[in-house]
This record gives sequence, structure tokens and C-alpha cells, in this order.
Amino acid sequence: MKLSVPHLLDIASLTKDDIHLVLDRARVHKQNLAHNRVAPLLQGKVIMTIFTENSTRTRVSFDMAALRLGASLIHWDEKISSAQKGETFSDTIAYLNGYKPDAIITRHHEYNAPSYIAARVDCPVINAGDSYREHPSQALLDAFTVHECKGRLDNLTITIIGDIAHSRVANSNIALWGKLNSRVHVIAPENLQPQKIPDHVKVFSNLREGLEGCDIIMPLRLQKERMEQADIPDETAYFQTYGLTLERLSMAKNDAVVLHPGPMNRGVEIDDMVADDPHFSKIFQQGANGVPVRMAILESLLT
Ligand code: CP
Repeated sequence: MKLSVPHLLDIASLTKDDIHLVLDRARVHKQNLAHNRVAPLLQGKVIMTIFTENSTRTRVSFDMAALRLGASLIHWDEKISSAQKGETFSDTIAYLNGYKPDAIITRHHEYNAPSYIAARVDCPVINAGDSYREHPSQALLDAFTVHECKGRLDNLTITIIGDIAHSRVANSNIALWGKLNSRVHVIAPENLQPQKIPDHVKVFSNLREGLEGCDIIMPLRLQKERMEQADIPDETAYFQTYGLTLERLSMAKNDAVVLHPGPMNRGVEIDDMVADDPHFSKIFQQGANGVPVRMAILESLLT
């Protein structure tokens, strides 16, 4: 199984068939993981990670995915690297490429850094999130979880609430749901709304209007690390207007489910009662799905 592209840089460059290929293989990997019968498809491969931003879910689930498939891992960590001694990023990449990794997984604070790396190395590059631009593996695992909950991917309404303007998760989800013929509602205060609004996206500042008729609700954290100080809302006031509570959940369809890419800021964009609700919240199921989906991504680029 192969993607139509040599790297996973963004959702925009994937075909609909690519998306279904990853999700179909992820289903197989999830079954195999459950029955402890994963084939070592990547035995002998060495995967390098290049992270310049913090991560829990993406980093650990990519590591788990690689190790489950029999690959070895090597981590380049900016904080303890010779970048601290003044080495340029392009020189670093040239040296790391010389060690001949079989793939590079990168999270980077710079816009489009994964494409910069891909143009300078001889192996597949996987974008694990760059600036506010794209986080394609997150959108793929979100779609995988939606399929588990709803049994389909088309003709759904996905409502994303919060800091859309600084969110790579929102950008990748917006791109993905357009390709799958579903609609996206975004609900945000004016200064956190997206600048580009594709045809399948509707923008709301009123929570009730944006939640009406939606199947999936995805609140997002305020990404303060990418905000101007003046744009950062007061968290208490923000929760009062946009925080997802059980009462507000009832504005969506009766069978709506809640996802969140993590990390959650409880009491800011989501109430504890929603995050931990055993019926509506699929957030930890979504997180666990990072492993089979990332196994499928690695398989689709490395075999
Ligand atoms: N969802 C997500 O990207 O989480 P991490 O930043 O912990 O990887």
C-alpha cells in the first residue's frame, strides 16, 4: 500500500483515496494490536524524529507505532543539540540526512518547515505539526475516530469551537472534511476566526447557532504560544461564552459526540463533566487511535 505522495506534509496534497487507504489500514492495525498479532513490517528501518516543539500524544504515539511495526527510533532534540552552539538548521538537516534515516517525523514551530526538510533529504518526511499551518496525522486520526462513532465520513457536520486562527488542527480538519464531502462549522470570537473560509465551512460567533444540527463537536485549546498578548482572552470570560458544558452539548444533535485533539485545558474550553462523560466524550478513544493511524501512515510511506 502506497500513498500517491512521497511525504505526508499536509492534507491538501492527499487524494480522497489516500485518506481512505490510511483509514482502512489503520482499522487492520487496530484489530491486530488488539489481538497481539502485529507483523514487523518495518523491521530494519531507522526512523528519526526532529521536534522543536513540545508534544505528548503525537510524539509518543508515533514512537509506539514505529516500535510496534519493528522499526528503531532516533530522536534529535533541539534543546540538547548543536543548534544551541549556533549551527544553522540547514546544516543540521544536511548532517542528519547523511546518516541515512529511512524516514523523518518532524514537529516544527516554523511555517512549512516539513517541506523545507523534505526538499533537502533522501527519505519520506512526515509532518507532526508545523506552526499553525497543518497537523495532518491528527486530522486522519480524528476522521478514523469519527468513522468508529458514526459509521461514515460523508454528510456530517463537524463543529470546531475556539481558537481556529492559530490552530493547525483546525486547518487540517477543514481541508480533510472538504475532501470527504462533510461540512464544518467553526465557532469563535471574531479575533480567533479563520482568515480563509472555504465553501464547506460556515463561521459563527454564537455557540447555539453553530452547534445546531452538528454530529461532532471539537473544542480547541487557546494556543497562547502563537497569540499576540492582546489577543489572549480572559479564561473565565472565555469559558462563560465558549466553554463546552453538558448543558450546551444539548444544543447539538442528540447523538453528537465530543472529540478534542489534546492537550485539554479543563475549565477553559471544556468542562470536566463533558471531558469525562462516558457516553458523549470519545476523547481518550481518539487519543489511543493515534497508534494504529500512525502505523498506517508509516506503512504507507515506508513499505
Ligand atoms: N494533539 C497533539 O498534537 O497533541 P501533542 O501536542 O501532545 O502532540
